Amino acid sequence: AFEVYAELSDVTVTVQPDESIAQALNRAGMKIKVSCEQGTCGTCLCDVNEGIPDHRDVFLTDEEKEDNDQMLICCSRAKTPRLVLDL
Ligand code: FES
Repeated sequence: AFEVYAELSDVTVTVQPDESIAQALNRAGMKIKVSCEQGTCGTCLCDVNEGIPDHRDVFLTDEEKEDNDQMLICCSRAKTPRLVLDL
């Protein structure tokens, strides 16, 4: 599990192994829109303010992934214990 802080909304969630970041945030009352939930469509793209994502999508290019400043929260996870998202 890892922690996600949605900075603009001031919401913190713990993301369990069996759920996505988007699911965890929606469980906490947020309204994250998802579509494919497989990392292909780009609907759930958001900016990363802190932490390193574990990119599991096929939407971002390798270069974009290396920048670690945006991620797809329907499928990607975290390499750091905490991510701060611009949500
Ligand atoms: Fe399609 Fe996340 S919902 S990439």
